[in-house]
Amino acid sequence: MSRRDMVVTGATGINGGSVPTTDEVVRVSAVSRSFGRGAHAVHAVRDVSFSANRGELVAVRGRSGAGKTTLLNMVGGLDRPDSGQVVVAGHEVTSAGEAELLRLRRGTVGFVFQTFGLVPILSAAENVGVPLRLAQVPAAEREQRVAVLLELVGLGGHAAQRPYELSGGQQQRVAVARALANEPDLLIADEPTGQLDSETGRSIMDLLRAVVHARGMTALVATHDPALIDLADRVLVLRDGRLVDG
Ligand SMILES: Nc1ncnc2c1ncn2[C@@H]1O[C@H](COP(=O)(O)OP(=O)(O)O)[C@@H](O)[C@H]1O
Ligand SMILES: [Mg+2]
Repeated sequence: MSRRDMVVTGATGINGGSVPTTDEVVRVSAVSRSFGRGAHAVHAVRDVSFSANRGELVAVRGRSGAGKTTLLNMVGGLDRPDSGQVVVAGHEVTSAGEAELLRLRRGTVGFVFQTFGLVPILSAAENVGVPLRLAQVPAAEREQRVAVLLELVGLGGHAAQRPYELSGGQQQRVAVARALANEPDLLIADEPTGQLDSETGRSIMDLLRAVVHARGMTALVATHDPALIDLADRVLVLRDGRLVDG
């Protein structure tokens, strides 16, 4: 079965259910990243190691400036560490060339950002379809998959609306659907509820949790919202770039 066939499947997971839920999807080993040099250097992430398994939603908590975004960007291949190693779904992210990083960002990892990042002139359906276009999924199949994804995030009736015609929570749901379009092994969400009121934020977090558990995916979610932390399976706490205990 190809990855493409997997889009509407439920709890069977990316590899058709043959992989146990304890499977390691993310392994971060002794990763460090600094910005600037000498006395002015900012040590954004210092010697961080952790792993995350299939079916697990891991929250990354820490106040502003703690290094959450820097860490997530390195896991997703948007940035490279100065030292250490990142492996995602068997791909060595840290040593990957540009072509491999592009494949990783398009197929293995899905991203959700605080500011939604939707294309304003495209409808909800067209936004969700962007990754499928990039993957050259034929139009008929694309439309069908987009419809399933919009239904999944509770926006079946909103396919034709543009982002400005949707509430913040609805826009983030579109962004979640887009991030799921290519059946990623790993969903990375950087403060996905940061621009939403607490009730809407909670519903987005509920959605992420349901998707992760139903599909046997893995999610890394940065947040400094304590109310959302209890929805995570596990919490990593960053302080001044280091992982600390609870
Ligand atoms: N591109 C950059 N250039 C310089 N400093 C940066 C850069 N990105 C992040 N930093 C610094 O690294 C630290 C961690 O930032 P960040 O990872 O964005 O934290 P968080 O997401 O937890 O708020 C902060 O001190 C921030 O100012
Ligand atoms: Mg951040």
